[in-house]
Amino acid sequence: MNFLQQLPKPFFVLAPMDDATDTVFRQVVADCAPADLYFTEFVNVDGLQSPGREKLMKKLQFTAKEKPLIAQIWGKVPENFRKTVDELVAMGFAGIDLNMGCPVKEVVKNGCCSALINDRDLAAEIIKATQEGAAGRVPVSVKTRIGFSEVDLSWLEFLLGHNLDMLAIHGRTRKEMSEVPAHWDLIGEVRKLRDKIAPNTLIVGNGDVQSLEQGKQLAEQYSLDGIMIGRGVFQDPFVFAENSRWENYTKEQRVGLYKKHVELFAKTWQNRERNIKTLNRFCKVYISGFDGAKELREKLMAANTTEQLLNLLASA
Ligand SMILES: Cc1cc2nc3c(=O)[nH]c(=O)nc-3n(C[C@H](O)[C@H](O)[C@H](O)COP(=O)(O)O)c2cc1C
Repeated sequence: MNFLQQLPKPFFVLAPMDDATDTVFRQVVADCAPADLYFTEFVNVDGLQSPGREKLMKKLQFTAKEKPLIAQIWGKVPENFRKTVDELVAMGFAGIDLNMGCPVKEVVKNGCCSALINDRDLAAEIIKATQEGAAGRVPVSVKTRIGFSEVDLSWLEFLLGHNLDMLAIHGRTRKEMSEVPAHWDLIGEVRKLRDKIAPNTLIVGNGDVQSLEQGKQLAEQYSLDGIMIGRGVFQDPFVFAENSRWENYTKEQRVGLYKKHVELFAKTWQNRERNIKTLNRFCKVYISGFDGAKELREKLMAANTTEQLLNLLASA
C-alpha cells in the first residue's frame, strides 16, 4: 500500500500550475489552509538530463511544509524519465506524476504531453521507464485530459491498463483548452472504467472547482477519490479550508498576505531565479476586494524589485 491510499476521502490536491505553484506559493497556501497533496510545476526531463539542468532546478525546490509533494515531469525520451525519476526519489519526492495533458502548442508540436494521447506507443514506453525508475519506491501517476480533438475514453482505458497508482483527469479535451466547462460526467465515466479495469488506481477529478464544498459534492456525485483545484486558489487562497475566511479578509490582512508572499519570494529566489513579473499574478489574487485595490495594484505591478514592492506595501 502506498501513501496515496491512506489520504482522506475525498482528498484535495493543489494542481500543478507553471510559474505559479512554486515552493513560495505552495508554502503560502499551506499556511492559509493546507491541501492534502501538492504537485510541482511540470519539469522537463530532457532538460534535466542536459547542460541546461541548473535552470530547471528552481522548479524542484521545496520545503517540509509542502508535503506530501509529487514531482510532475514531462519530456520525450524514455531513458531520461528513468534517470530523472531515480534522482527525484533520492531528493525526497513522495511520488512522480507524468504530464500527459498540457495543451500548449510548442509542447504538442514536439510530440509531448497531450500529444501522447495520439502516440500510445511512446506513452507506454514513458510509463514503463518511469515505473522502472521508481521501482515501487514511490507511486507513479498520470495527469491528462479526456481526449485530443474529440472525447476519447479509449485513451483513459489505455492508461488504466498500465497499473498506475493515481489518474488525475482534467475534464476537457486538448482542443477545448480551457474554453468550455469541464465535463464532470465524463470524469464519472472514467471512474466506472476504473472499477472494471484497475480497481487500485485512484481517480482524481479536475476542472473549474471553486470551493471545498463544491469539490466534496462532485466527489460524492461521481464517487471520486480526490479533487484537484487549480485556478480556484487564485480566487481564494483559503480554498482548501472547511470555512474559507477570504471573503471577510480585510484590506490590511490582504496586503499582509501579499507582503508575506513577496518576502518569501525575495528570500527564496535571491539569485533572481524567478522573474519578478511572475508576482503580478499574485498581486491580482491578494490586492482585490477593497476600496482602492485597483489603484494600488497598478502601482505594485509597475515595481521592478521586491524592495520597491515591500515599500509600496508598507505604505498601503
Ligand atoms: C497558469 C497555469 C499553469 C498550468 N501549468 C500546468 C502544469 O505545469 N502541469 C499541469 O499538469 N497542468 C497545468 N495547468 C493545468 C491545471 O493544473 C489544471 O488542470 C487546469 O487549470 C484546470 O483546473 P482548474 O479549473 O481547477 O484551474 C496549468 C494551468 C494554469 C492556469
